Amino acid sequence: MATPAGGKETGPKADALVIFGISGDLARKMTYDALYELELHGTLKVPVIGVAKDDLDGEQLVKRMRESCVAAEKDLDESVFERLSERVSYVRGDYKDPKTFQALTEKLDGCEHPVFYLETPPSLFAPVVEGLAAADLTKGARVVIEKPFGHDLQSAKALNAELSKHLAEPQIYRIDHFLGKEPVMDILYLRFANTLLEPIWNRRYVNSVQITMAEDFGVEDRGNFYDPVGALRDVVQNHLLQLLALIAMEPPTGGSDPDPVRDKKMDLFRAIPAADPQRSVRGQYEGYQDVEGVAHGSKTETFIALRLFVESWRWAGVPFFIRAGKCLEAKATELRVVLNSPPPIGIAGSAIPKADEIVIRIDPHGGACILVEAKQPGKETLRQVDLELLFEEELGDQPGPYERLLGDALLGNPEHFAREDMVEETWRIVQPLIDDPPEVETYKPGGWGPEGSSHLLTGYGGWRRPWLPSEEPYGPVGP
Ligand code: BG6
Repeated sequence: MATPAGGKETGPKADALVIFGISGDLARKMTYDALYELELHGTLKVPVIGVAKDDLDGEQLVKRMRESCVAAEKDLDESVFERLSERVSYVRGDYKDPKTFQALTEKLDGCEHPVFYLETPPSLFAPVVEGLAAADLTKGARVVIEKPFGHDLQSAKALNAELSKHLAEPQIYRIDHFLGKEPVMDILYLRFANTLLEPIWNRRYVNSVQITMAEDFGVEDRGNFYDPVGALRDVVQNHLLQLLALIAMEPPTGGSDPDPVRDKKMDLFRAIPAADPQRSVRGQYEGYQDVEGVAHGSKTETFIALRLFVESWRWAGVPFFIRAGKCLEAKATELRVVLNSPPPIGIAGSAIPKADEIVIRIDPHGGACILVEAKQPGKETLRQVDLELLFEEELGDQPGPYERLLGDALLGNPEHFAREDMVEETWRIVQPLIDDPPEVETYKPGGWGPEGSSHLLTGYGGWRRPWLPSEEPYGPVGP
Protein backbone atom coordinates (compact mmCIF):
# COMPACT_ATOMS: atom_id res chain seq x y z
CA MET A 1 0.00 0.00 0.00
CA ALA A 2 1.36 3.39 -0.95
CA THR A 3 1.97 5.99 1.71
CA PRO A 4 -0.39 8.98 1.47
CA ALA A 5 0.44 11.92 -0.72
CA GLY A 6 1.34 14.79 1.54
CA GLY A 7 1.50 18.11 -0.21
CA LYS A 8 1.48 21.25 1.88
CA GLU A 9 -1.66 23.30 2.06
CA THR A 10 -1.31 26.85 0.79
CA GLY A 11 -4.72 27.86 -0.55
CA PRO A 12 -8.24 27.42 0.85
CA LYS A 13 -9.20 23.75 1.02
CA ALA A 14 -11.43 22.60 -1.83
CA ASP A 15 -15.05 21.81 -1.06
CA ALA A 16 -15.84 19.91 -4.29
CA LEU A 17 -13.98 18.18 -7.11
CA VAL A 18 -15.56 18.44 -10.55
CA ILE A 19 -14.05 16.33 -13.33
CA PHE A 20 -14.82 17.27 -16.93
CA GLY A 21 -14.16 14.30 -19.20
CA ILE A 22 -14.84 11.75 -16.44
CA SER A 23 -15.73 9.06 -18.97
CA GLY A 24 -12.54 9.41 -21.06
CA ASP A 25 -9.44 7.31 -21.49
CA LEU A 26 -7.23 9.22 -19.07
CA ALA A 27 -9.89 8.98 -16.37
CA ARG A 28 -10.10 5.22 -16.87
CA LYS A 29 -6.32 4.76 -16.86
CA MET A 30 -5.36 7.19 -14.12
CA THR A 31 -8.05 9.22 -12.39
CA TYR A 32 -10.39 6.59 -10.96
CA ASP A 33 -7.60 4.81 -9.17
CA ALA A 34 -6.07 8.11 -8.00
CA LEU A 35 -9.46 8.95 -6.43
CA TYR A 36 -9.52 5.55 -4.75
CA GLU A 37 -6.03 6.15 -3.32
CA LEU A 38 -7.03 9.60 -2.11
CA GLU A 39 -10.07 8.06 -0.42
CA LEU A 40 -7.95 5.30 1.08
CA HIS A 41 -5.59 7.85 2.60
CA GLY A 42 -8.35 10.10 3.87
CA THR A 43 -7.44 13.02 1.59
CA LEU A 44 -10.61 13.02 -0.47
CA LYS A 45 -13.10 14.71 1.78
CA VAL A 46 -15.31 16.36 -0.83
CA PRO A 47 -18.09 15.45 -3.27
CA VAL A 48 -16.84 14.31 -6.69
CA ILE A 49 -18.97 15.39 -9.65
CA GLY A 50 -18.19 13.91 -13.04
CA VAL A 51 -19.21 15.76 -16.20
CA ALA A 52 -19.22 14.32 -19.73
CA LYS A 53 -21.33 14.01 -22.84
CA ASP A 54 -21.83 10.26 -22.49
CA ASP A 55 -25.22 8.84 -21.79
CA LEU A 56 -24.39 7.51 -18.33
CA ASP A 57 -25.86 7.76 -14.87
CA GLY A 58 -24.07 7.88 -11.52
CA GLU A 59 -24.42 4.14 -11.03
CA GLN A 60 -22.89 3.28 -14.39
CA LEU A 61 -20.04 5.66 -13.72
CA VAL A 62 -19.35 4.00 -10.38
CA LYS A 63 -19.36 0.61 -12.13
CA ARG A 64 -16.70 1.83 -14.59
CA MET A 65 -14.67 3.24 -11.75
CA ARG A 66 -14.82 -0.05 -9.93
CA GLU A 67 -13.52 -1.96 -12.96
CA SER A 68 -10.50 0.32 -13.25
CA CYS A 69 -9.77 0.20 -9.52
CA VAL A 70 -9.99 -3.59 -9.43
CA ALA A 71 -7.52 -3.74 -12.32
CA ALA A 72 -5.13 -1.28 -10.66
CA GLU A 73 -5.24 -2.44 -7.03
CA LYS A 74 -3.84 -5.74 -5.80
CA ASP A 75 -6.28 -5.78 -2.97
CA LEU A 76 -9.26 -3.46 -3.34
CA ASP A 77 -10.72 -2.51 0.02
CA GLU A 78 -14.48 -2.65 -0.55
CA SER A 79 -15.28 -0.31 2.32
CA VAL A 80 -12.99 2.34 0.84
CA PHE A 81 -14.54 1.95 -2.58
CA GLU A 82 -17.99 2.17 -1.02
CA ARG A 83 -17.06 5.50 0.62
CA LEU A 84 -15.72 6.76 -2.70
CA SER A 85 -18.82 5.71 -4.62
CA GLU A 86 -21.03 7.58 -2.16
CA ARG A 87 -19.25 10.81 -3.07
CA VAL A 88 -19.67 10.40 -6.80
CA SER A 89 -22.42 11.90 -8.94
CA TYR A 90 -22.71 12.62 -12.64
CA VAL A 91 -23.84 15.52 -14.83
CA ARG A 92 -24.45 14.71 -18.45
CA GLY A 93 -24.13 17.55 -20.90
CA ASP A 94 -22.43 19.37 -23.71
CA TYR A 95 -19.59 21.66 -22.58
CA LYS A 96 -20.83 24.41 -24.88
CA ASP A 97 -24.38 24.33 -23.52
CA PRO A 98 -25.19 26.72 -20.62
CA LYS A 99 -27.66 24.13 -19.28
CA THR A 100 -24.74 21.87 -18.37
CA PHE A 101 -23.37 24.61 -16.14
CA GLN A 102 -26.78 25.30 -14.63
CA ALA A 103 -27.05 21.62 -13.68
CA LEU A 104 -23.54 21.78 -12.25
CA THR A 105 -24.40 24.88 -10.22
CA GLU A 106 -27.27 22.98 -8.64
CA LYS A 107 -25.05 20.05 -7.79
CA LEU A 108 -22.42 22.34 -6.30
CA ASP A 109 -25.05 23.74 -4.00
CA GLY A 110 -23.17 26.82 -2.86
CA CYS A 111 -19.63 25.32 -2.70
CA GLU A 112 -17.14 28.19 -2.53
CA HIS A 113 -13.85 26.57 -3.51
CA PRO A 114 -14.48 23.88 -6.09
CA VAL A 115 -11.60 22.35 -8.04
CA PHE A 116 -12.49 21.90 -11.71
CA TYR A 117 -10.30 19.28 -13.35
CA LEU A 118 -10.42 19.47 -17.15
CA GLU A 119 -9.27 16.17 -18.57
CA THR A 120 -10.66 17.08 -21.95
CA PRO A 121 -9.03 17.73 -25.32
CA PRO A 122 -7.25 21.13 -25.18
CA SER A 123 -9.68 22.62 -27.69
CA LEU A 124 -12.31 22.44 -24.91
CA PHE A 125 -10.30 24.22 -22.18
CA ALA A 126 -11.47 27.68 -23.24
CA PRO A 127 -15.16 26.75 -23.83
CA VAL A 128 -15.37 25.00 -20.43
CA VAL A 129 -13.75 27.91 -18.62
CA GLU A 130 -16.09 30.31 -20.43
CA GLY A 131 -19.08 28.19 -19.40
CA LEU A 132 -17.90 28.19 -15.79
CA ALA A 133 -17.36 31.94 -15.82
CA ALA A 134 -20.77 32.60 -17.40
CA ALA A 135 -22.38 30.52 -14.64
CA ASP A 136 -20.42 32.53 -12.07
CA LEU A 137 -18.53 29.45 -10.88
CA THR A 138 -14.93 30.62 -11.24
CA LYS A 139 -14.71 32.91 -8.22
CA GLY A 140 -12.81 31.08 -5.46
CA ALA A 141 -12.26 28.06 -7.74
CA ARG A 142 -9.10 26.35 -9.00
CA VAL A 143 -8.92 24.93 -12.52
CA VAL A 144 -6.63 22.01 -13.28
CA ILE A 145 -5.77 21.41 -16.92
CA GLU A 146 -3.92 18.62 -18.70
CA LYS A 147 -1.17 19.02 -21.30
CA PRO A 148 -0.63 19.94 -24.08
CA PHE A 149 -0.47 23.64 -23.25
CA GLY A 150 -0.26 24.82 -26.85
CA HIS A 151 1.79 23.32 -29.67
CA ASP A 152 4.34 26.12 -29.98
CA LEU A 153 5.16 29.44 -28.35
CA GLN A 154 2.46 31.39 -30.15
CA SER A 155 -0.37 28.93 -29.41
CA ALA A 156 0.76 28.61 -25.78
CA LYS A 157 0.51 32.39 -25.43
CA ALA A 158 -2.92 32.34 -27.07
CA LEU A 159 -4.16 29.63 -24.68
CA ASN A 160 -2.82 31.51 -21.67
CA ALA A 161 -4.52 34.67 -22.91
CA GLU A 162 -7.85 32.80 -23.27
CA LEU A 163 -7.62 31.33 -19.77
CA SER A 164 -6.60 34.61 -18.21
CA LYS A 165 -9.79 36.29 -19.45
CA HIS A 166 -11.63 34.44 -16.68
CA LEU A 167 -8.99 33.18 -14.24
CA ALA A 168 -6.07 34.68 -12.35
CA GLU A 169 -2.81 32.74 -12.80
CA PRO A 170 -2.80 31.37 -9.21
CA GLN A 171 -6.14 29.70 -9.97
CA ILE A 172 -4.68 27.68 -12.87
CA TYR A 173 -2.99 24.35 -12.10
CA ARG A 174 -1.31 22.90 -15.22
CA ILE A 175 -0.58 19.22 -14.78
CA ASP A 176 2.75 17.82 -15.89
CA HIS A 177 2.47 14.35 -14.41
CA PHE A 178 6.28 14.03 -14.22
CA LEU A 179 6.22 16.68 -11.50
CA GLY A 180 4.00 14.40 -9.41
CA LYS A 181 6.47 11.50 -9.53
CA GLU A 182 8.18 10.97 -6.19
CA PRO A 183 11.66 10.35 -7.70
CA VAL A 184 11.33 13.68 -9.53
CA MET A 185 10.50 15.44 -6.27
CA ASP A 186 13.45 13.66 -4.75
CA ILE A 187 15.91 15.51 -6.98
CA LEU A 188 15.87 18.71 -4.93
CA TYR A 189 16.09 16.78 -1.65
CA LEU A 190 19.08 14.76 -2.81
CA ARG A 191 20.81 17.84 -4.16
CA PHE A 192 20.25 20.26 -1.33
CA ALA A 193 19.79 18.15 1.78
CA ASN A 194 23.19 16.45 1.39
CA THR A 195 26.45 18.27 1.86
CA LEU A 196 28.06 15.53 -0.20
CA LEU A 197 26.62 16.63 -3.53
CA GLU A 198 26.09 20.39 -3.60
CA PRO A 199 29.79 21.45 -3.49
CA ILE A 200 30.58 19.52 -6.69
CA TRP A 201 27.38 20.45 -8.54
CA ASN A 202 28.91 22.98 -10.91
CA ARG A 203 31.17 23.50 -13.94
CA ARG A 204 34.36 22.88 -11.95
CA TYR A 205 33.48 19.25 -11.30
CA VAL A 206 30.72 18.41 -13.75
CA ASN A 207 31.76 17.48 -17.27
CA SER A 208 28.29 17.00 -18.76
CA VAL A 209 24.74 15.98 -17.94
CA GLN A 210 22.69 13.36 -19.80
CA ILE A 211 18.91 13.14 -19.55
CA THR A 212 17.38 10.04 -21.11
CA MET A 213 13.75 9.09 -21.50
CA ALA A 214 13.67 5.77 -23.34
CA GLU A 215 10.52 3.78 -24.02
CA ASP A 216 10.57 0.22 -25.33
CA PHE A 217 7.18 0.50 -27.01
CA GLY A 218 5.86 2.45 -29.98
CA VAL A 219 3.01 4.84 -30.52
CA GLU A 220 0.51 1.95 -30.39
CA ASP A 221 -3.09 3.13 -30.66
CA ARG A 222 -2.20 6.83 -30.29
CA GLY A 223 -1.28 7.54 -33.93
CA ASN A 224 -3.94 10.23 -34.30
CA PHE A 225 -2.71 12.07 -31.22
CA TYR A 226 1.01 11.52 -31.76
CA ASP A 227 1.53 12.26 -35.45
CA PRO A 228 0.84 16.02 -35.26
CA VAL A 229 2.88 16.21 -32.04
CA GLY A 230 6.14 14.19 -32.08
CA ALA A 231 8.68 13.54 -29.34
CA LEU A 232 9.86 17.14 -28.90
CA ARG A 233 6.41 18.45 -28.04
CA ASP A 234 5.20 15.28 -26.36
CA VAL A 235 7.90 14.91 -23.73
CA VAL A 236 10.85 17.32 -24.15
CA GLN A 237 9.24 20.78 -23.94
CA ASN A 238 7.40 19.71 -20.79
CA HIS A 239 8.64 16.66 -18.85
CA LEU A 240 12.33 16.68 -19.72
CA LEU A 241 12.89 20.43 -19.46
CA GLN A 242 11.25 20.27 -16.04
CA LEU A 243 13.77 17.57 -15.09
CA LEU A 244 16.59 19.75 -16.41
CA ALA A 245 15.36 22.63 -14.27
CA LEU A 246 15.34 20.48 -11.13
CA ILE A 247 18.82 19.11 -11.74
CA ALA A 248 20.32 22.52 -12.52
CA MET A 249 18.36 25.22 -10.63
CA GLU A 250 19.67 27.18 -7.67
CA PRO A 251 18.39 26.27 -4.20
CA PRO A 252 14.93 27.61 -3.39
CA THR A 253 15.09 30.54 -1.01
CA GLY A 254 12.89 30.95 2.04
CA GLY A 255 12.03 34.44 3.22
CA SER A 256 9.12 36.14 1.61
CA ASP A 257 9.19 34.47 -1.83
CA PRO A 258 5.70 32.96 -2.10
CA ASP A 259 6.70 30.57 -4.90
CA PRO A 260 10.37 29.72 -4.27
CA VAL A 261 10.75 26.54 -6.30
CA ARG A 262 8.97 27.76 -9.40
CA ASP A 263 10.77 31.10 -9.27
CA LYS A 264 14.16 29.36 -9.26
CA LYS A 265 13.09 27.12 -12.10
CA MET A 266 12.10 30.18 -14.09
CA ASP A 267 15.53 31.76 -13.52
CA LEU A 268 17.04 28.59 -14.90
CA PHE A 269 14.81 28.44 -17.98
CA ARG A 270 15.62 32.06 -18.73
CA ALA A 271 19.32 31.19 -18.68
CA ILE A 272 18.97 28.52 -21.41
CA PRO A 273 19.61 29.81 -24.93
CA ALA A 274 17.22 28.49 -27.57
CA ALA A 275 18.07 25.03 -28.95
CA ASP A 276 20.30 24.86 -32.01
CA PRO A 277 18.87 22.70 -34.84
CA GLN A 278 22.48 21.91 -35.89
CA ARG A 279 22.94 20.28 -32.48
CA SER A 280 19.82 18.20 -32.58
CA VAL A 281 18.93 14.86 -34.16
CA ARG A 282 15.50 13.57 -35.05
CA GLY A 283 14.61 9.95 -35.74
CA GLN A 284 11.60 7.84 -36.66
CA TYR A 285 11.38 4.13 -35.96
CA GLU A 286 10.89 1.71 -38.83
CA GLY A 287 7.23 0.76 -38.99
CA TYR A 288 5.92 4.03 -37.51
CA GLN A 289 4.24 4.92 -40.81
CA ASP A 290 2.10 1.77 -40.60
CA VAL A 291 0.52 2.89 -37.31
CA GLU A 292 -3.15 3.76 -37.67
CA GLY A 293 -3.66 7.51 -37.65
CA VAL A 294 -0.13 8.31 -38.89
CA ALA A 295 -0.03 10.29 -42.16
CA HIS A 296 1.56 8.63 -45.17
CA GLY A 297 5.08 10.04 -45.58
CA SER A 298 4.97 11.55 -42.08
CA LYS A 299 8.13 13.36 -40.96
CA THR A 300 7.17 13.29 -37.29
CA GLU A 301 10.01 12.33 -34.94
CA THR A 302 9.60 9.44 -32.53
CA PHE A 303 13.14 10.09 -31.25
CA ILE A 304 14.91 13.34 -30.55
CA ALA A 305 18.28 14.20 -29.09
CA LEU A 306 19.54 17.70 -28.43
CA ARG A 307 22.20 19.68 -26.64
CA LEU A 308 21.48 22.67 -24.45
CA PHE A 309 23.60 24.99 -22.35
CA VAL A 310 22.76 26.99 -19.26
CA GLU A 311 24.33 30.42 -19.28
CA SER A 312 24.96 30.84 -15.60
CA TRP A 313 28.01 31.10 -13.38
CA ARG A 314 27.38 27.57 -12.12
CA TRP A 315 26.99 25.89 -15.50
CA ALA A 316 28.97 27.89 -18.07
CA GLY A 317 30.38 25.49 -20.69
CA VAL A 318 28.67 22.33 -19.36
CA PRO A 319 26.52 20.64 -22.03
CA PHE A 320 23.15 19.16 -21.10
CA PHE A 321 22.28 16.35 -23.51
CA ILE A 322 18.66 15.26 -23.74
CA ARG A 323 17.28 12.28 -25.64
CA ALA A 324 13.81 10.79 -25.78
CA GLY A 325 12.51 8.05 -27.98
CA LYS A 326 9.96 5.35 -28.55
CA CYS A 327 10.73 1.75 -29.60
CA LEU A 328 14.17 1.79 -27.97
CA GLU A 329 15.91 -1.09 -26.23
CA ALA A 330 14.58 -0.46 -22.74
CA LYS A 331 12.14 1.63 -20.74
CA ALA A 332 14.20 3.96 -18.59
CA THR A 333 14.09 7.60 -17.56
CA GLU A 334 17.16 8.93 -15.81
CA LEU A 335 19.34 11.95 -15.18
CA ARG A 336 23.08 11.36 -15.19
CA VAL A 337 25.66 13.84 -13.99
CA VAL A 338 29.08 12.91 -15.37
CA LEU A 339 31.96 14.35 -13.38
CA ASN A 340 35.44 15.21 -14.67
CA SER A 341 38.01 12.40 -14.56
CA PRO A 342 40.90 12.66 -12.12
CA PRO A 343 44.47 12.24 -13.46
CA PRO A 344 46.26 8.83 -13.12
CA ILE A 345 46.58 8.11 -9.41
CA GLY A 346 50.11 6.71 -9.44
CA ILE A 347 49.28 3.43 -7.69
CA ALA A 348 47.24 1.73 -10.40
CA GLY A 349 49.66 1.68 -13.31
CA SER A 350 49.01 4.30 -15.93
CA ALA A 351 45.24 3.79 -15.94
CA ILE A 352 43.22 6.96 -15.89
CA PRO A 353 40.31 6.54 -13.50
CA LYS A 354 36.91 6.64 -15.14
CA ALA A 355 34.79 9.68 -14.37
CA ASP A 356 32.42 9.23 -11.45
CA GLU A 357 28.76 9.49 -12.37
CA ILE A 358 25.70 10.30 -10.32
CA VAL A 359 22.49 8.83 -11.66
CA ILE A 360 18.97 9.62 -10.53
CA ARG A 361 16.51 7.18 -11.98
CA ILE A 362 12.90 8.25 -12.36
CA ASP A 363 11.50 5.10 -14.02
CA PRO A 364 11.25 2.20 -13.56
CA HIS A 365 11.80 1.85 -9.81
CA GLY A 366 13.10 5.29 -8.86
CA GLY A 367 16.48 5.41 -7.21
CA ALA A 368 19.92 6.90 -7.19
CA CYS A 369 23.26 5.40 -8.02
CA ILE A 370 26.80 6.72 -7.75
CA LEU A 371 29.40 5.08 -9.96
CA VAL A 372 32.82 5.24 -8.34
CA GLU A 373 36.24 3.72 -8.94
CA ALA A 374 37.54 1.03 -6.58
CA LYS A 375 40.47 -1.37 -6.48
CA GLN A 376 40.15 -4.59 -8.43
CA PRO A 377 40.65 -7.38 -5.87
CA GLY A 378 44.06 -9.05 -6.13
CA LYS A 379 45.30 -6.58 -8.76
CA GLU A 380 46.71 -3.08 -8.84
CA THR A 381 44.00 -1.85 -11.21
CA LEU A 382 40.76 0.05 -11.12
CA ARG A 383 37.23 -1.17 -11.40
CA GLN A 384 34.01 0.83 -11.52
CA VAL A 385 31.45 -0.11 -8.88
CA ASP A 386 28.05 1.30 -8.04
CA LEU A 387 26.52 2.52 -4.83
CA GLU A 388 22.84 1.91 -5.38
CA LEU A 389 19.80 3.22 -3.57
CA LEU A 390 16.36 2.03 -4.56
CA PHE A 391 13.78 4.41 -3.14
CA GLU A 392 11.02 1.81 -2.76
CA GLU A 393 13.30 -0.56 -0.91
CA GLU A 394 14.75 2.03 1.42
CA LEU A 395 11.85 4.42 1.79
CA GLY A 396 8.71 2.38 1.14
CA ASP A 397 5.96 2.67 -1.45
CA GLN A 398 5.31 5.98 -3.08
CA PRO A 399 2.04 7.67 -4.07
CA GLY A 400 1.34 7.78 -7.79
CA PRO A 401 1.64 11.09 -9.66
CA TYR A 402 -2.08 11.63 -10.15
CA GLU A 403 -2.90 10.93 -6.54
CA ARG A 404 -0.24 13.39 -5.50
CA LEU A 405 -1.20 16.14 -7.93
CA LEU A 406 -4.97 15.92 -7.46
CA GLY A 407 -4.35 15.89 -3.71
CA ASP A 408 -2.21 19.03 -4.06
CA ALA A 409 -4.89 20.75 -6.16
CA LEU A 410 -7.47 20.00 -3.45
CA LEU A 411 -5.15 21.42 -0.80
CA GLY A 412 -4.29 24.45 -2.90
CA ASN A 413 -0.58 23.71 -3.30
CA PRO A 414 0.60 24.80 -6.77
CA GLU A 415 4.32 23.99 -6.38
CA HIS A 416 4.31 20.89 -8.59
CA PHE A 417 2.33 22.40 -11.44
CA ALA A 418 3.59 24.29 -14.48
CA ARG A 419 3.20 28.06 -14.36
CA GLU A 420 2.26 30.25 -17.34
CA ASP A 421 5.69 31.87 -17.63
CA MET A 422 7.45 28.46 -17.52
CA VAL A 423 5.27 27.07 -20.26
CA GLU A 424 6.09 30.01 -22.52
CA GLU A 425 9.79 29.98 -21.67
CA THR A 426 10.14 26.27 -22.42
CA TRP A 427 8.41 26.74 -25.77
CA ARG A 428 10.90 29.54 -26.49
CA ILE A 429 13.76 27.11 -25.84
CA VAL A 430 12.52 24.46 -28.30
CA GLN A 431 10.93 26.77 -30.88
CA PRO A 432 13.91 26.73 -33.35
CA LEU A 433 13.55 22.95 -33.62
CA ILE A 434 9.91 23.43 -34.58
CA ASP A 435 10.67 26.20 -37.08
CA ASP A 436 13.69 24.52 -38.62
CA PRO A 437 13.53 20.81 -37.82
CA PRO A 438 16.51 18.66 -38.78
CA GLU A 439 15.85 15.86 -41.30
CA VAL A 440 14.35 12.79 -39.72
CA GLU A 441 16.57 9.63 -39.75
CA THR A 442 15.01 6.18 -39.67
CA TYR A 443 16.09 3.80 -36.90
CA LYS A 444 15.51 0.17 -36.13
CA PRO A 445 13.24 -0.61 -33.18
CA GLY A 446 14.99 -2.17 -30.21
CA GLY A 447 18.18 -0.09 -30.35
CA TRP A 448 19.16 3.37 -29.12
CA GLY A 449 17.81 5.53 -31.91
CA PRO A 450 19.39 6.97 -35.05
CA GLU A 451 23.12 6.79 -35.74
CA GLY A 452 23.46 10.60 -35.71
CA SER A 453 22.53 10.82 -32.05
CA SER A 454 25.96 9.55 -30.96
CA HIS A 455 27.76 12.36 -32.83
CA LEU A 456 26.17 14.91 -30.53
CA LEU A 457 28.34 13.61 -27.70
CA THR A 458 31.70 13.55 -29.47
CA GLY A 459 34.28 14.36 -26.82
CA TYR A 460 31.91 13.48 -23.97
CA GLY A 461 32.24 9.68 -23.94
CA GLY A 462 28.97 8.85 -25.70
CA TRP A 463 25.53 8.19 -24.32
CA ARG A 464 25.60 5.93 -21.30
CA ARG A 465 23.44 2.87 -21.18
CA PRO A 466 20.71 3.72 -18.67
CA TRP A 467 21.12 2.25 -15.22
CA LEU A 468 18.55 -0.52 -15.00
CA PRO A 469 17.87 -2.65 -11.97
CA SER A 470 20.28 -5.60 -11.82
CA GLU A 471 22.06 -4.63 -15.01
CA GLU A 472 25.68 -4.14 -15.90
CA PRO A 473 27.78 -2.67 -17.36
CA TYR A 474 27.00 1.03 -17.24
CA GLY A 475 29.61 2.01 -19.78
CA PRO A 476 28.95 3.93 -22.98
CA VAL A 477 26.68 2.38 -25.57
CA GLY A 478 26.15 3.84 -28.97
CA PRO A 479 24.55 5.73 -30.43
C1 BG6 B 1 3.07 11.28 -21.76
C2 BG6 B 1 3.35 11.14 -23.23
O1 BG6 B 1 3.00 12.62 -21.38
O2 BG6 B 1 4.11 10.64 -21.01
C3 BG6 B 1 3.53 9.69 -23.63
O3 BG6 B 1 2.26 11.70 -23.96
C4 BG6 B 1 4.58 9.04 -22.76
O4 BG6 B 1 3.90 9.59 -25.00
C5 BG6 B 1 4.23 9.26 -21.30
O5 BG6 B 1 4.60 7.65 -23.07
C6 BG6 B 1 5.30 8.69 -20.39
O6 BG6 B 1 4.88 8.81 -19.07
P1 BG6 B 1 5.32 7.74 -17.99
O7 BG6 B 1 4.84 8.28 -16.70
O8 BG6 B 1 4.66 6.46 -18.38
O9 BG6 B 1 6.81 7.65 -18.10
